[in-house]
Parts: sequence; C-alpha cells; structure tokens
Amino acid sequence: MRKIRIRQHVNPLARKFQQSVTLPDWNSIYPNFNNLFHLDIGCARGQFILAMAQLNPKINFLGVEIRESLVTESNLERDHLNLTNLHYFYCNINISLAELLTSLPLAQLKWITIQFPDPWFKKKHNKRRVVTAEFVNILAQYLFPETKIFIQSDVQEIALEICDRFEENPHFQRQHSQPWLEENPFPIATEREIATLNKNEPVYRALYSVISEIHPF
Ligand SMILES: C[S@@+](CC[C@H](N)C(=O)[O-])C[C@H]1O[C@@H](n2cnc3c(N)ncnc32)[C@H](O)[C@@H]1O
Repeated sequence: MRKIRIRQHVNPLARKFQQSVTLPDWNSIYPNFNNLFHLDIGCARGQFILAMAQLNPKINFLGVEIRESLVTESNLERDHLNLTNLHYFYCNINISLAELLTSLPLAQLKWITIQFPDPWFKKKHNKRRVVTAEFVNILAQYLFPETKIFIQSDVQEIALEICDRFEENPHFQRQHSQPWLEENPFPIATEREIATLNKNEPVYRALYSVISEIHPF
C-alpha cells in the first residue's frame, strides 16, 4: 500500500485546528450500531484498535486523531481488511469532544483509552496537552456510570498530571489502590507502548471509572 507522508507533530493550538468538524452518521458507518463502543483518543496510525477490532468483532472501535493524513491512511487499511467495526475520525479532540460524545450512543460506550497522548512534555507546551480540567469536565458531563477510562504514558510527570485532573473531578474514581496499574488491561500494546517497553523504560498506567453522571440533556 502507498505510504502517505505524515507530519511528525502538529500544533493543536494552530488556527486550522480550532474549527469543529462535521460528524458522520455513525449508523451508516457501523452496521451493528447497537454494539458496545471503544473510543481511542490520539490513535496515531491506529494499530492498537486495528488489532483490537479483529479480536473483538462485536465491539465498535472509533479512533480519533488530529493528523488527518494518518486518519486517511488508517481508514484505507481498515477497508483493505473489510473491518466494519472500526473507523478512524479526524478532529482536534479538545475542540470536538462534547460534539463527538453527543453523537455517540453513550450508554454503550464501555471504554475510552488515552494512550501516550502528548508529544508535548515540555512545560512551555502545557497548553497543547489533551487531558485538561475542561476535557475531564466534559467527560463527566456526558459519560454514563461504568464507562472506563484507561490512560498510559511513558512520561511520569504527564501521567501524574492526567491523574490529578481525573482525581480532582468527583465523577471519576481510580480503580486500583496502588499508584499505578501494574498490567495493561488490553491484550494489545500501542506502537508507543511497544517502543517504550523495548527500551526497558517504565510505563505509567491508570484506570478510572465514571461513578456518577450529570447529563446536560
Ligand atoms: C505520542 S502519540 C501516541 C499514539 C498512540 N496512542 C500510541 O500509544 O502509540 C499521540 C497521538 O495523539 C495525537 N494527538 C495529540 N493531540 C491531539 C488532539 N488534540 N486531538 C486528537 N489527537 C491528538 C497526536 O497527533 C499523536 O498521533
């Protein structure tokens, strides 16, 4: 398959990424729309959900990614494999999160994964990070109890910051007593996770669950 040239990083604060995007009709994308959903935020080339979708044909997987060319390439690969329970969607999640959640069947949204979300580990790039207090607040407003959120990072400072954002919000509860989750609950590792483990470097993981809801609708 022809490889499309991919930019290594984009600045999510750039003007181009401040517009909301048109959401597709999910019913026409997922033939089994009533199945459970798994949302993977910042999926990059999407190899994690590509493998997960093949292992779990009865779960619908949706990956969101800000680099549009990656999304195009991943959807081509999905088509090549004839997978009907997988879709990749281009957006800046910090602009489109509320709209995206409104469009999804939230009672069926079982998992959200946010894995190695930030290439932005320098302090001066704080504002570019995905998991902000506002981001967590939107999740709290829309998600149903029992939706689980799995996060992991190879940068301890970022992992701690993400945990702080979830823990300061009363609608989420950490699902383990030890500071970090020992094992990845999923049988597939992301590209970044594989690269980190291959270097024998630590991965900081945490699991949260929604414990109460405040629905704006
Ligand atoms: C370090 S990569 C990790 C990719 C993959 N989750 C993994 O673990 O291998 C982070 C990804 O999140 C994407 N990303 C960063 N900010 C984003 C945003 N605001 N909206 C959507 N995607 C974003 C980046 O483009 C990048 O592909």
